Amino acid sequence: MAAQTQTLRIAAIADEAQDIRTYRLVGTDGSPLPAAPPGSHLDLYLPDGLVRQYSLCQDPGDRHAYLIAVKREPASRGGSAWLHDRAAEGMTLEAGLPRSILAPAPAARHHILLAGGIGITPLYSLARSFEAAAASYELHYFVRSAAHAAFLGALRASPSSPRLHLHAGLPNDALAPTLVRILASQPAHSHVYVCGPVPFMDAVQTEAGRHWAPEHIHEERFAAPAPQAHAAAASGAGTLEVVLASTGATIPVAPGTNLLAALNRAGQAIPTSCEQGFCGTCMTGVVEGCIEHHDTFLTPEEQQSGRWIMPCVSHATGTRLVLDL
Ligand code: FES
Repeated sequence: MAAQTQTLRIAAIADEAQDIRTYRLVGTDGSPLPAAPPGSHLDLYLPDGLVRQYSLCQDPGDRHAYLIAVKREPASRGGSAWLHDRAAEGMTLEAGLPRSILAPAPAARHHILLAGGIGITPLYSLARSFEAAAASYELHYFVRSAAHAAFLGALRASPSSPRLHLHAGLPNDALAPTLVRILASQPAHSHVYVCGPVPFMDAVQTEAGRHWAPEHIHEERFAAPAPQAHAAAASGAGTLEVVLASTGATIPVAPGTNLLAALNRAGQAIPTSCEQGFCGTCMTGVVEGCIEHHDTFLTPEEQQSGRWIMPCVSHATGTRLVLDL
């Protein structure tokens, strides 16, 4: 599946909060941009072969610009550093089409949005869509300080401000009890949406997972799956035989071996970027075989279709996997 791309121009860069800048991206010919449903993100193809994902934060009805907010990460592997240090207004970038992996649950009677730091970005988009639809929701925003909170001014100034609960400077040991309080006594058929740093998301999953059905908990992760997921991906009952459909060549993959590494060792180079299952660069077509998915790029429906695999983190469950290579 070749990724569809579009060319975008950086129309404006602005400081949004401490270490966070927004980038307004527009088309190059003034045509309306592909629609971005609430909770969508965009792949940006940055120089040096980097592919990074950013949630879209523009007004849901705006078809002429995308807005992303980027935090400068001290441990940046290149994406945020490039955007903060080298991106300039007027530059053009290649981008994918908007994809939503955090869509609102249509059957929910109440939505609880839990944002940790820069994880506000997809939830800001959801909050605005709930506001527009007069849906019942509340937004809990966990940040180091108000100065670090992107979109805080807009949230406070909007009609939805009573639904905003700012948890600024919460000590680490206060997070779990706060989550317990938030998640207790919520109306039936409520759904939780979470985005933020991995420890924050894990804490929400732990607390929400005690009482809530998994299908009522929605998350957007742009980070590596938990270590145990990698272990599961690499485990297998026996040696896996990978067949390249174009030539019929077979590559044995021993139990515990990463599929991408095995392909590379056998001379079958696969383009990669994140190598953590969230960018989609290594996506490979599957002709035959069952897959244990550990990526966060494919939608649940795409994973169920069994048509693609992210070999950087995912594996096969059987002993034979035919790849469209
Ligand atoms: S390299 Fe990013 S998903 Fe595999």
